[in-house]
Amino acid sequence: MALYRLIYVSQAVSGLEYPDLVEIMEKSERNNKNVGITGMLSFGDSMFLQVLEGSRRVISQTYNRILLDKRHVNAELIDFSEIEHRDFDLWSMKVVQFGNQAQVRNIILKYSSSEIFSPISMTGKQSLSFLLELTELYHKGLVS
Ligand SMILES: Cc1cc2nc3c(=O)[nH]c(=O)nc-3n(C[C@H](O)[C@H](O)[C@H](O)COP(=O)(O)O)c2cc1C
Repeated sequence: MALYRLIYVSQAVSGLEYPDLVEIMEKSERNNKNVGITGMLSFGDSMFLQVLEGSRRVISQTYNRILLDKRHVNAELIDFSEIEHRDFDLWSMKVVQFGNQAQVRNIILKYSSSEIFSPISMTGKQSLSFLLELTELYHKGLVS
């Protein structure tokens, strides 16, 4: 079965709170596990940046459902490509929330033109590298 990766960015609606994130995380973990999706959802500076890996059909179905979710707006597709292997195979969906940690700001600076997290201006490669570096910070316990 061919594997695909989809990356998109979106803006959280104002008023989105921690319990919303927890609910998104719980549903994503359960649903994605059932259909073989893996990935990561980062949340910081009111922006979501999410990567989904899996078959083309389940990624499309899941993305279509995510787009209808009223907890975010202005979703923009960054990357959709066929891949050889999964980069996020440990997680059915890992939600990583970040704030002003210096290490996070450093990788933001590396992949954007300003200190403000602006995934909308990242290329597919930059957004993937950003998420992979965030994964490393997670493993080091620097973000949770
Ligand atoms: C930023 C964001 C990311 C989401 N990611 C996923 C996801 O990866 N998988 C998923 O099933 N639902 C995800 N959701 C939730 C869906 O929009 C939807 O609420 C959920 O899939 C409905 O699940 P249910 O039919 O089991 O109630 C996400 C929502 C938001 C706002």
